[in-house]
Amino acid sequence: MASNVAAERPLRPAKRVSGQRQDVWSIVNEAAAASPVQPIVNMGQGFFGYNPPPFVIDAAREALDKVECNQYSPTRGRPRLKKALADAYSPFFGKKLDPDTEITITTGANEGMLSAFMGFIEEGDEVIVFEPFFDQYLSNIEMPGGKVVYVPLHPPPNGAFETSSASEWKVDMKELERAITPQTRMIVINTPHNPIGKVFSRDELLAIGDLCVKHNIIILSDEVYDRLYYVPFTRIATLSPEIARLTLTVGSAGKNFYATGWRVGWLIGPEHLITYVSAAHTRICYSSVSPLQEAAAVGFEKAEEMGFWDESKKDMLSKMKRFNEVWDELGLPYSEPEGGYFVLVNLKKVRLPDDYDFPPHVVERPRDFKLSWFLIKEVGVAAIPPTEFYTPENAHIAENYLRFAVCKNDDVLETAKERLRGLKKYIADD
Ligand SMILES: Cc1ncc(COP(=O)(O)O)c(C=O)c1O
Repeated sequence: MASNVAAERPLRPAKRVSGQRQDVWSIVNEAAAASPVQPIVNMGQGFFGYNPPPFVIDAAREALDKVECNQYSPTRGRPRLKKALADAYSPFFGKKLDPDTEITITTGANEGMLSAFMGFIEEGDEVIVFEPFFDQYLSNIEMPGGKVVYVPLHPPPNGAFETSSASEWKVDMKELERAITPQTRMIVINTPHNPIGKVFSRDELLAIGDLCVKHNIIILSDEVYDRLYYVPFTRIATLSPEIARLTLTVGSAGKNFYATGWRVGWLIGPEHLITYVSAAHTRICYSSVSPLQEAAAVGFEKAEEMGFWDESKKDMLSKMKRFNEVWDELGLPYSEPEGGYFVLVNLKKVRLPDDYDFPPHVVERPRDFKLSWFLIKEVGVAAIPPTEFYTPENAHIAENYLRFAVCKNDDVLETAKERLRGLKKYIADD
């Protein structure tokens, strides 16, 4: 009897989590584990190869000794962190931020963005996302029933043949406006951008912001790499009061302090938006990790006076330059990043052997998956195929690129370079 009931009501996962395709991270990690070259230099996922600075680590240790830091935090976040963020960000925003009404702490930027979509998206509402996109946006939008509408960032026309600035990846503003419908509720911007490394210019942000004001669209500005910019950096929320009224700015202590596993993030915005983000956050996870919020607070209190922000930017830029030397040597073009720690390299000139034995789940994917597989197996360096950050219709735009994360120790970068020199014999110059 029991088994009949079971047959009529089989256990099944919800569609939102039961995607058929193997995701990019497991393909790359699986290939890396099985590679004959060990250990692999993993420049795939964007995690740091080194620890947060000592003043932040010490703060985390000390927080664990305090009774109140081991218990629930207020749902909107620990007062000390909200105040530290208000103090650190008020000068950037050109106004005094209210820590109680204009900032809410979340479990990483990712859960913060999920909370923003949960707070404002109803079934059938549309959210505009630029391609390539950070992959978590899609499921975060779809969970509350939202529909993702894609607008491509157009690559530099000569990207396969010459190195050019990441600023050359462009938004066609007419195309963006055409994507807006009466159902459009939100748009996601990411600057500095993952994976391109583009820092949106003031003019681009103004044009996007003005469109959002015209159509009353909420702007979710993902600025998790906000301390790593190598050209002037503009925050869209600062461009006009009308744009500020619509903007939620996203930040991440994980990215700021080299601690992606800490899962501390935040949203900054006007009270009429933050209220609902924080209401959703309360339903999703109630509150976020207490001791690490406290440590992040100390981080923000001390970072400026310790010169940490300048140092972290200088360090990352030097890693970027150190690593990219190998592409200059090999004559492989890349998009020179304006911010962040990813570089997109164009490997169109790399000739993959015709008879190379790719597994079936790689054969059916675009060329960048084959390049990624080949690099792991033959060279011993893991990188991410960026077509994963595109819809199938636009995947061809990125099929010759690979994304490398340079947030690794310098000796690791040197090993990667040495191995990548092994690509020379596969490069055709015609
Ligand atoms: C563009 C972008 N946004 C958000 C995140 C997520 O940040 P967090 O680790 O704080 O959730 C990442 C992480 O890779 C990212 O690249």
